[in-house]
Parts: sequence; C-alpha cells; structure tokens
Amino acid sequence: MVKPSVLITGAGIGIGAACAGSFARAGYRTVLTDVLQEEGEQRAAMLRAEGLDAEFHLLDVTDSSAVREIVLATEGDGFDVVVANAGIVRRRAFAALTDDDWSQTVDVDLAGEMRIFREAVPAMSRRGSGSLIAMSSVSGAAYGWAEHAHYSAAKAGVIGLARALAVELGPQGIRANVVAPGFIRTAQSLDETHSMGDAALRDAVSAVPLGRIGEPSDVADVVLFLASDAARYVTGQVIVVDGGLLVRQG
Ligand SMILES: NC(=O)c1ccc[n+]([C@@H]2O[C@H](COP(=O)([O-])OP(=O)(O)OC[C@H]3O[C@@H](n4cnc5c(N)ncnc54)[C@H](O)[C@@H]3O)[C@@H](O)[C@H]2O)c1
Repeated sequence: MVKPSVLITGAGIGIGAACAGSFARAGYRTVLTDVLQEEGEQRAAMLRAEGLDAEFHLLDVTDSSAVREIVLATEGDGFDVVVANAGIVRRRAFAALTDDDWSQTVDVDLAGEMRIFREAVPAMSRRGSGSLIAMSSVSGAAYGWAEHAHYSAAKAGVIGLARALAVELGPQGIRANVVAPGFIRTAQSLDETHSMGDAALRDAVSAVPLGRIGEPSDVADVVLFLASDAARYVTGQVIVVDGGLLVRQG
C-alpha cells in the first residue's frame, strides 16, 4: 500500500517539528520544510533514525517560485495533507507599525500559507482528495493581542482563507481546516521581545483551565486527527487547542 504523504512548513522546531513527529509516527511519508536548515535536517534525521520516512527541504514560504519547485519535486501524485504552519511574530505598537512591518508578517503568516496550498491543490484535485491545515492562533480566532495588530490580522486572515477553500475545493474532495493554538511552549512564545517570554507564560497558566501551558505535541496530535479519515466530514472549521483558555469565565 502507498504511504500517505504530508508536507509541513516551518517543521524544524516548535509545533511544526512536533507535527512532523506525529505524522511520521503515524506512517506518513513526511516532507519537512523550513528556513532553518540545520534544525530541519536534524529533525528529519532524528525521525529517520527511528526508522521513519522523513526528508527535509530548505524552503522560505515567501518565495513563490521556491514553493512551487519544492511542491512539484516532492508531491508525487499529490500530497494527502499539507500543514501550513510556518509563522513569525513581531511586537510593534500600532502607532509605530510601518508598511514593512505589516508586509513582512502578512507575507509569512498569511500569504505563506496561501502559497503552499496553492501549489499543492492542483495535484490533490487531480486525485480527488486532500486535506489542508492552516495554523492560526487564538489571536486571530478570538482574541485581540495588543501591539500585534499585524499578527492578529494575518491569523484571522488564514481562517477566511481556509473557509473559502473549504467551499471552493470541497467538490474536489479537498478539506480545509484551521487549528488555533493558545499558549504553547515554543521558541516563539518564549521570545521576550516579540511574544510573551518565559515569566509571562508561567503567569498565564492561571488563565488556563487545564492548568498548564501547552506542548507542541498537544497541537500536533489535533492536526493529525484533522488530517485523518476520522475527520473526513469536517471542513471549514476552526479547532481551538488552548486548554480551555477561551471558554474560561472571568
Ligand atoms: N507557540 C504558540 O503559543 C503559538 C500560539 C498560536 C499560534 N502559533 C502559531 O503556530 C505556528 C508555529 O509556531 P511555533 O510556536 O512553533 O513557533 P516557532 O518560532 O517555534 O516555529 C516557527 C517556524 O516557522 C519557521 N519560519 C519562519 N519564517 C519562515 C519562512 N519565511 N519560511 C518558512 N519557514 C519559516 C521558523 O523557522 C520555525 O521553524 C506559527 O504559525 C505560530 O504563529 C503558535
């Protein structure tokens, strides 16, 4: 039997690396991509050392022709799953936000997700099946985040992107869903300058009903479920993975 296949962006570290682990262990041919060459190669090598099927390709999701090239080179008859996970976060007070700040974040966090889907969809359409997973955030799905208007806008944008694709591509057997993580311990959330930092992350535990900060694998396992046949009738949805943060009262 042919193995199912997945391409993941931003798979060298954090949530993307955890996704690579979850998919590879579930028997997928796993294509990891990232701008972080060393981390990506190490992550793929680690999975291969477990006897799993993983390969790494250097890919910047802001480069349309590189995205096309890597997808064409790795998709075979078409990916079963694409996880658009790569993202950046930059703190900038709205009064100081420049066009460049806006464009840089939107180019990675929103257009980057669109690009990888755009290149993978034609082969999925030919096979008549596929699953697209967009990585959003509670900031975008529900929260506003001060000094992060550009990030919040991009993360809200990917929800619109996935909903539109769910409707447009559903007749071709392609599902599109969104995962919106809450507080997850990664390099991004630990970044004091641009995100929360370690101390604020520890403080945030009190707002999380499940009583802990999330781990990348908490998100990865939901991504794997959404991609799987168990979620075959789920499309156009936003699944929040936040330990109950958003539904907490007071
Ligand atoms: N950590 C959290 O609490 C949290 C919460 C909500 C949403 N998210 C989202 O989850 C996703 C993963 O975040 P993370 O926390 O693992 O962050 P991370 O910083 O650990 O990982 C982000 C990955 O994206 C890659 N990347 C950045 N720019 C890229 C580009 N131009 N092309 C290709 N890859 C690029 C990085 O190299 C890195 O591997 C992001 O989209 C992030 O916004 C994270």
